[in-house]
Amino acid sequence: MKLELEVNGAAAHVEASPWKRLLDVLREDLRLTGTKEGCGEGECGACTVMLDGEAVNSCLVAVGQCHGRKVVTVEGLAAQRAGEAEVLHAVQRALVTCGGAQCGICTPGIAVCAVHVVDSGALHGADDATARAKVRELLAGNICRCTGYQLIVDAVIAAARELEGARS
Ligand code: FES
Ligand code: FES
Repeated sequence: MKLELEVNGAAAHVEASPWKRLLDVLREDLRLTGTKEGCGEGECGACTVMLDGEAVNSCLVAVGQCHGRKVVTVEGLAAQRAGEAEVLHAVQRALVTCGGAQCGICTPGIAVCAVHVVDSGALHGADDATARAKVRELLAGNICRCTGYQLIVDAVIAAARELEGARS
């Protein structure tokens, strides 16, 4: 079946079974290997991408459901900001500087979710304790076996504060 999607702001034409997992189409057909497979059962969040602005587990989405829709993967996060493809999003930079990534399997999914959290303004005006609790709640679907979450939460808070400072 011929499918047309928008992936990271560009048209993507795919010839695939409509039942093929979006995860596999991204990695195999479109060579966007940033999106990772962890559990393959919708439990870990490693495969998270945005589909029409909603975070989804791409291991649970059939590509036939994506015809005519917009997908953003970890490769598209930098390009989402001011059209500067070479500039990482503040969340991605903070994950690096805060040590919020170790083996990296969960990192693309966490980055996709965290960018959504930060850019949605969900943390705006929240005090530190409230913001930390919100980040933990909003990233509850993303499992990390390495970092213990503290450094990931640190990174998301740091990115949110940086962007708030840039806006004010
Ligand atoms: S690989 Fe999709 S949720 Fe784990
Ligand atoms: S950095 Fe290894 S699973 Fe999160």
